[in-house]
Amino acid sequence: MILSPSLLSADFSRLGEQVRALEAAGVPWLHLDIMDGAFVPNITFGAPVVKALRPCCDLFFDVHLMVEGADRYLEDFAAAGADLLVIHVEAVRHAQRALAAIRDLELKAGLALDPGTDISAVRWLAPDLDLLLIMGVNPGFSGQSFLPQTTAKVRAAREALDAWGREDVPVQVDGGVSLGNTGELVAAGADVLVSGSAFFREPDHAAGLAAFAAAADTTPETQRRPSLVAAEAWRHHASEKEGI
Ligand code: DX5
Ligand code: ZN
Repeated sequence: MILSPSLLSADFSRLGEQVRALEAAGVPWLHLDIMDGAFVPNITFGAPVVKALRPCCDLFFDVHLMVEGADRYLEDFAAAGADLLVIHVEAVRHAQRALAAIRDLELKAGLALDPGTDISAVRWLAPDLDLLLIMGVNPGFSGQSFLPQTTAKVRAAREALDAWGREDVPVQVDGGVSLGNTGELVAAGADVLVSGSAFFREPDHAAGLAAFAAAADTTPETQRRPSLVAAEAWRHHASEKEGI
């Protein structure tokens, strides 16, 4: 399992310092929640903040775009140093075009599904995906309660991707992830877990990371699926796109 802590639960008065501490603790990915006040009720931050954090670390930047018409901002986030751009199928009019545009920018392309959106929405987008994000809450805020039906949905997502010939596509879960549901999510097929409030509740990041790893380790036979192996190989690659 790959843990992607959500910056939304960090201390916004000292983000650079916090990102460096996460990297020093051995965290592999950083989840950056971009909220526009239109697709979701909340407003967070945009590409300039991502760009400001980029020189602070080499963490793999997992950028979750909760933005109406997110396809208008893909180049901005690529230039800011994103590695993975995740768009919501509910927020873009032509999801296939947006996913292809992300890949054209030489980034990984992710697709997110709200709790009410069925896996069938992914069927004809499956060739264009690098990652599938299953939301465990309605997007907009950290600290919400996990919707228990998410575990069955993760299992259905893994089975569907395998049936569609995409054993290599990792499944990510975001929202309400905790030490209490990590084991069941990994067993159901989750490869990447986002955690905001639960992870940042523990001030010692190395201890927090170890606790999540231990909670995920209940089902070793599922640990090395092709999708996890694929995601583990993803790294941040600085490029001219970043303008640095
Ligand atoms: C919710 C965001 C999440 C959130 C997770 O809309 O996309 O990434 O920060 O926070 P927790 O883990 O507290 O639910
Ligand atoms: Zn998120």
